Amino acid sequence: MNAVTERLTEIYKPIAADLDAVARKMMGVVAGALEPFPREIGAFRSLGKRLRPAICLLAWRSEGIDGAAPPEVVDQAAAVELMHIATLIHDDVVDGAYQRRGHQTLHELFTDKTAVLVGDYLYATAIDIFNQHAGRPVLGAITRTTVGMAHGELMQVLLDPDCRSRRDVYLDIISKKTADFFGAAAVVGASAALTGRAGKNDQEDRLELFRRFGWNFGMAFQMIDDILDFTASEDNLGKPVFQDLVDGRITLPAILLLESGNGVPATLRTVLDQKELSQDIRAALLEDLNRFDIIPKAIRTAEGYLSEAREILQALFGSHRSVEAQQSLYSLCDYILLQRGLPAPVAGG
Ligand code: IPE
Ligand code: IPE
Ligand code: MG
Ligand code: MG
Repeated sequence: MNAVTERLTEIYKPIAADLDAVARKMMGVVAGALEPFPREIGAFRSLGKRLRPAICLLAWRSEGIDGAAPPEVVDQAAAVELMHIATLIHDDVVDGAYQRRGHQTLHELFTDKTAVLVGDYLYATAIDIFNQHAGRPVLGAITRTTVGMAHGELMQVLLDPDCRSRRDVYLDIISKKTADFFGAAAVVGASAALTGRAGKNDQEDRLELFRRFGWNFGMAFQMIDDILDFTASEDNLGKPVFQDLVDGRITLPAILLLESGNGVPATLRTVLDQKELSQDIRAALLEDLNRFDIIPKAIRTAEGYLSEAREILQALFGSHRSVEAQQSLYSLCDYILLQRGLPAPVAGG
């Protein structure tokens, strides 16, 4: 186990048994119907970070609940991860990615057709699970999120590059494809904890805070994922790097580069036009990123959303953090920034 995984294990301590139950539920869901696929779906062979079910379970436990998680909570946390895996399988078809979680992608192992159908099956199963357990507001949040996720991915494909290189459009895309889902994951867990408690208005206010926590966390998370595409190694990330630009996805570092220079830097234009990255262009691009201080700027942008997420936790729990899961939610904010050696931003710099 490396230091980053160790840290995550520590953060997940209050929900370790719940996450094991989630894994059992997920295997149960896919075992019969998806033979012979489960072992071939990289996402099942290797677990990934499990951030979304973890946030769901931590939100639930942070309301001060002890003992084993009941089936409706375990099942819904499993549905959150199943839905996430479905989006990854589809996203990898769309992006033509060959690796996910350190394994060959499903569409590479089989065909695009198979991957699309397996993704559909997992999606549909997740919705079915929510339908069994979730109340109307949660179900509404989940279904609206799935519409948004599809819309966000579509915007990346359909909008022209000039439009997609605008910061406001980028923020809208990542809000839809990633952040809203984190918000919904927190709402699923918190709602299971709060339902039946007195004070309907207080409950709604609390759920809204949980949603906003997840959303801000998700915005920062996608920005950091987009930064890692420029800074990480493929071995560390378990998926291809430098792939976003080559595929024409214009993400935060590229947008900051566009905003800081006079016109489009030649390096960026070359990658976008040629749709490939030679060693020379890669080196020149990294030099541009350095010259304009792009990566620290991008990290500071993500950190702004994480600060907001921490403030929301403060509003939810006060400064006591008496429940272990509350501390874990704070620690997750630090974890995503420090994962895989991203440097911490320099205060005020
Ligand atoms: C990948 O999500 C998709 C993004 C929103 C960037 P994760 O990085 O959470 O993927 P896993 O679940 O850990 O593999
Ligand atoms: C995230 O986008 C995919 C979804 C939220 C559906 P990315 O394309 O950045 O994810 P990775 O980098 O392939 O994991
Ligand atoms: Mg992708
Ligand atoms: Mg990415």
